[in-house]
Amino acid sequence: MTALENITKLLQESTAAVEEAAALLKAGQVVGIPTETVYGLAANALNPAAVAKIYTAKGRPSDNPLIVHVADKGMFSSVACLTPKAEKLIAAFCPGPLTLVLNKKSVVPAVTCGGLTSIAVRWPSHPTAIAVIKASGLPLAAPSANLSGGPSPTTAAHVMADMAGRIPLVIDGGPCAVGVESTVLSLTDDKPLLLRPGYITAAEIEQVLVEKVEVANAVLHKMNDDETAPSPGMKYKHYAPKTEITVVTGSKEAYTDFVNANKKQGVFALCYEEDAGGLALPYVTYGSATNTKTQVNALFNALRELDEKGATNAYAHFNQVDQLSTAVHNRLLRAAAFKVIEL
Ligand code: TXA
Ligand code: MG
Repeated sequence: MTALENITKLLQESTAAVEEAAALLKAGQVVGIPTETVYGLAANALNPAAVAKIYTAKGRPSDNPLIVHVADKGMFSSVACLTPKAEKLIAAFCPGPLTLVLNKKSVVPAVTCGGLTSIAVRWPSHPTAIAVIKASGLPLAAPSANLSGGPSPTTAAHVMADMAGRIPLVIDGGPCAVGVESTVLSLTDDKPLLLRPGYITAAEIEQVLVEKVEVANAVLHKMNDDETAPSPGMKYKHYAPKTEITVVTGSKEAYTDFVNANKKQGVFALCYEEDAGGLALPYVTYGSATNTKTQVNALFNALRELDEKGATNAYAHFNQVDQLSTAVHNRLLRAAAFKVIEL
């Protein structure tokens, strides 16, 4: 890193900011950009040295591949081999919060894909993300812009908290509309396999493909030591704040009684808005118990807020409400290192 990179510039989204980002990306630098899911840490996906800087900035293990971001179908097919199923899903959901794992084209260097022969590709819908990709003319490798293992960033302030001094520029495009990372679906085998649940649910994908979508076991279960991860990211600690999280399932009444009985210095509730009234300990809310979209939107900010408020432990109230709940469940289980109390 040069001395200049030690100062991270934060720019509001604008044509000038997009042009500055594009110039840095063409010069092999890393830039924090907004997307509709979470903020990304972008670099030229075709330049191994630029991609290496992403791994360094995040502290990410080099065998954990990156998602390549494109701004149109032509760019999509320039990095990945499209299949009939991929074509259908692109027509239905792109641009949007869906990532497809397909066979990689040789133009993409091995380092971008963690040494795999497959590639994860996504066409984001955030106008600034699209503008940056188009202005640079490059497919952009972009993992979530957090330090490896921590909660993903849903505001530019989150990116600055993790990346200040590590990258030259962050573009502020406001809070992310979705709030969790894209759904990751592998199409490299006959059967479509869900590797990461997101805003687009397995049921929605099944409707388009008219076919069953398998869900990888590791989405909601801790992997055994001898198990091979279908997605390398599944092996690693994820989404975890410094606060030690425990997931607690059960009714509002049972949860309230449980956390109130466990009231102690540093212990917080991470709860639904509806839970707040009856609590005798400090709390951070993450959306409404009956509206999963609000939970998805608030979760990562809430995990960061626990750290900011000095929580040492937090009991996270979770109940499955609908298909989208799987995205919340997956993040909370990992944030909690699979510690669950069923009331
Ligand atoms: O919403 C998102 O997808 C965000 C924004 C910035 O676009 N990006 C994101 O990237 O979440 P990241 O790197 O944090 O997560 C990528 C996940 C990892 O779990 C990785 O292991 C998996 O996708 N992945 C990437 N390439 C893969 C491949 N070829 N095969 C299987 N899994 C892959
Ligand atoms: Mg990530």
